[in-house]
Amino acid sequence: MSNQPLIAPSLLSADFARLADEMAAVGGDSGGGADWLHVDVMDAHFVPNLTLGLPVVQSLQKSTDIPLDCHLMIDDPDRWAVGYAEAGVHNVTVHAEAADEPVGLAKNLRAAGAKAGLSIKPNTPLEPYTDVLKHYDTLLVMSVEPGFGGQKFIGEVLEKTRRARRMVDTGHLNLVVEIDGGINTETIEQAAEAGVDCFVAGSAVYGAEDPARAVEGLRSQAINAAHARQ
Ligand code: DX5
Ligand code: ZN
Repeated sequence: MSNQPLIAPSLLSADFARLADEMAAVGGDSGGGADWLHVDVMDAHFVPNLTLGLPVVQSLQKSTDIPLDCHLMIDDPDRWAVGYAEAGVHNVTVHAEAADEPVGLAKNLRAAGAKAGLSIKPNTPLEPYTDVLKHYDTLLVMSVEPGFGGQKFIGEVLEKTRRARRMVDTGHLNLVVEIDGGINTETIEQAAEAGVDCFVAGSAVYGAEDPARAVEGLRSQAINAAHARQ
């Protein structure tokens, strides 16, 4: 791994009545803290669950300095995703299974000032998207079926993060390899060894007594495991 690992707590496991406080709880005033804040947007169509949308994200954006990482689990991202970029979201991720024109969409997201992310579900192969990913800044590999927090990690997806890592290391792709689902103290090391740069963690952070300490613990595990890999 060339860069320091990024830790992205997922607000899905936070208290939705206190989102500003929950963001501040991982802010790390004394340095450290969350690198990105992961916000799961679900529409009850692409996934069975329903969470929040653009008006809430606009408010979150005003209430934190931590870069937002919006994971859009929605149908028709070609229509909706750019609004999140225009709201100032740092990284806007859409699902490969839902996007009609992923290359054009990445260009539009970047033109609106955001980084563009492409996500693939656990059973979606990486290879068909190799060329498309040249237009993206982030690849989000799902390690659970999208829709809910607190699910069990699917280790088989690490084959995809390994292949993506190789493509980055050999210069064929230039992106952050991100993983989402079931990341905790038991699983983060194997993900770091498999070349992941950015780790989303919901229940492992917001289910902990001290979310900021949980972020730091995950970060040191990821750093140590990544060193062991080199
Ligand atoms: C699930 C979401 C995840 C979720 C992860 O569809 O995309 O971001 O918050 O939660 P944990 O870390 O608890 O598996
Ligand atoms: Zn997510």
